[in-house]
Order: sequence, then C-alpha cells, then structure tokens
Amino acid sequence: MANPSLLILPGDGIGPEVMAEVRKVIDWFGTQGRPFTVEEGLIGGASYDAFGTPLSDETLARAQAVDAVLLGAVGGPQYAGVDYALRPEAGLLRIRKEMDLFANLRPAQCFEALADFSSLKREVVSGLDIMIVRELTSGIYFGEPRGIHPDNAGGRVGINTQRYTTDEIRRVARSAFEMARRRGNRVCSMEKANVMESGILWREEVQWVHDNEYPDVELSHMYADNGAMQLVRNPRQFDVIVTDNLFGDLLSDAAAMLTGSLGMLPSASLGAPMANGRPKALYEPVHGSAPDIAGQGKANPIATILSLAMALRYSFDMGEEATRLERAVEQVLADGHRTADLMGPEGGTPLSTSAMGDAIVAALAR
Ligand code: NAI
Ligand code: MG
Repeated sequence: MANPSLLILPGDGIGPEVMAEVRKVIDWFGTQGRPFTVEEGLIGGASYDAFGTPLSDETLARAQAVDAVLLGAVGGPQYAGVDYALRPEAGLLRIRKEMDLFANLRPAQCFEALADFSSLKREVVSGLDIMIVRELTSGIYFGEPRGIHPDNAGGRVGINTQRYTTDEIRRVARSAFEMARRRGNRVCSMEKANVMESGILWREEVQWVHDNEYPDVELSHMYADNGAMQLVRNPRQFDVIVTDNLFGDLLSDAAAMLTGSLGMLPSASLGAPMANGRPKALYEPVHGSAPDIAGQGKANPIATILSLAMALRYSFDMGEEATRLERAVEQVLADGHRTADLMGPEGGTPLSTSAMGDAIVAALAR
C-alpha cells in the first residue's frame, strides 16, 4: 500500500516555525517504519508573494489529491493594503470552500499539567475531553436573503437568513456520530428548536440519522443557550457536541478557553468521503500567524503538532500513533517544559519553539 500522503502548507508568520517542528515528528514516525509522502506548498501571503494569488489552482489541485492537508496559519500586517480578494485569508477561505469541508472539529482537552491555567477551577476541567463538531459551510453566515436595505420608516434593515437543508444537517450529523464511535460514543446535538424552525428541522434530522444509521450511539438534544451554561458549569458531561455554524462558532471558542492557551488548540475540517472511504480533510491550529512574535522562536508548536495527531487518527487510521503523540505532549508538559505563552506569573525560562519540538520528539522516543 502507498504511504499516506500529506500536503503541508506552512503559510505566514509563525506558520513556518511551528511547521518545522511538525516535520521533526513526521520524520520520527518515518524512522519507526511509518513513513509519509510529504509535499509542501504555498498559501496565504507566502503564495501571494510568489504567484500574486493567496492560493494557486495548482496548490488547490494537490490539496484535493492528497489524503490530508496540514496548514500553519496565514496573514500579516504587511498584507493589510492588499485587495480583499487577494488577502492571505482569502486563500484559506477558498481552500475550505473548494474542498467543501462542512464539518469543523474543535477538541477541548485538558492537559493535567495545565489544569491550573484554565479560567475554571481545576476540579471542573481536570480530565476534560470533548469534541465540538460545527457545521461550517451553511447556516446564517451563508443564507439568502441577506443585506442591508432601506426600510419603510426611513431607516435601514439588516438581514441574514438561517437556512439548512436535510442533506446539510444529515452529513454533519454523520461526521459527529462517526467521531463519537471513535471516542465516548455519545453525541449531544444543540439548536434552538424552541424558537427557530431551522432548529426543529435540525433536531428531527439529527434524530433521523441516529435512528436509521447510528442507533448504537447515545444521542441527546439540548437548547444551545442551556448548552453554553452547561459547558461552563459541568463540561465533562459531554463527549461529542454537534451544532450549527453560528452556535458552533460561539460554543467552540468558549469550550476552547476552558483549557487555556491558543497555542495548544488543534482543529480539523472534514468533507465528504473520498474514494478510499476517508473524508477530505484539512488540519490546522486554531491560532493565526501571530505577527507579534513571528521570527523570534517564541511560538508554541503544540497546537500544530496536535493537529497532526488528529490527522493520524481521523485520516490515517493511526489511532495508536495519535495517542502516543498526545501522551508525549502531556509528558513534556508534566516535566515542566513551557513555551512563553504557557508561563504563569511565577515565571521561569521559556523553551524556544524548536526546543519544545525537540522535547516532544525525545518524549516520543522514550
Ligand atoms: P493570532 O492567533 O495570530 O494571535 C493572537 C495572540 O495569541 C497573539 O498575541 C499571538 O502572539 C498569540 N499566539 C497565537 N498563536 C500562538 C502560539 N502558537 N504560540 C504562542 N502565542 C501564540 O490572532 P490575531 O493576532 O488576531 O491575527 C494575526 C493574523 O493572523 C491576522 O492576519 C489574522 O487575519 C490571521 N489569522 C489567521 C488565522 C488562520 O490562519 N487560521 C486565524 C486567525 C487569525
Ligand atoms: Mg470564532
């Protein structure tokens, strides 16, 4: 069988720095008899500088052909004056759209060594491990009609439309149930069926997918406002949460902060199954290009390394290796290694980006 193939798009700012650490991890797996075919390409400002476009058709075609794409981050103040359609961020939006990545996966996981870093009490977040599946390509951010128009009273009216079809709800529900089967086997679906018709349809269709295709997975429904409260009150009650684009935007950001730093947060965006049965997939850290610390060796590479762990698990069927990598990260943190973003008020000497990568590889090898 061919090696799993990976397209790496480091992007801008700290993207190339954190991706260099991911390469060390990939190389280490290669030495252990798990080689990958790795290609590298340009996206964002790096692509704009080279080709005058933030995502070339050629790079996009490669992204469509590989088993998974791993992306760093795009953007930077030097592109502030660039035409909106050619801004680095436009490259990211285009690749997500062209690959039709409709399910955005955002884990919120508490690493024991960082439990005191949370804004919640240690006993509330200790052991936390939840996955939010957010619908990413439809809903109120895309629905028509939309716009700002004059109203009849001489003022203006702003309009956005929440719109979901049966197919859009069913496919993201399937992603959530698939995810649950690999984890704690529980899904909680969140909407506002009490006040929104699109929420009623959401609830009915998620229930339909459950009853017809995933009866083995435990399903519950919750109003999204209650979900927000429960996330802060007792987040460990959840395994997988599935919700729409708007609620998912808010709930995933809130859940992420239960466990602390932006430098720790991975994500995945999944699309329809490819010929090999695996979904189209793009993995990336939640953070941006961090121009304020770019080029200084201060960036925390863990968010991107954990994004690779997600790729191992969800694109390459390498769950054991994924767990091993997550354990290595946990071990390094438990040993007290910290990049600058993870330092508490007590201070100490932070590790550089590259030293953190080396420490994780060393822990993998132990
Ligand atoms: P940001 O996530 O780049 O940075 C926010 C803050 O967190 C900064 O102080 C930064 O130094 C810190 N930070 C982020 N990642 C870190 C890491 N790995 N280690 C240590 N510290 C880290 O968000 P910001 O400043 O709003 O945006 C900067 C640029 O990134 C903009 O051009 C924006 O458009 C772009 N961006 C790109 C994203 C992407 O590629 N997915 C997502 C968010 C922003
Ligand atoms: Mg957001």
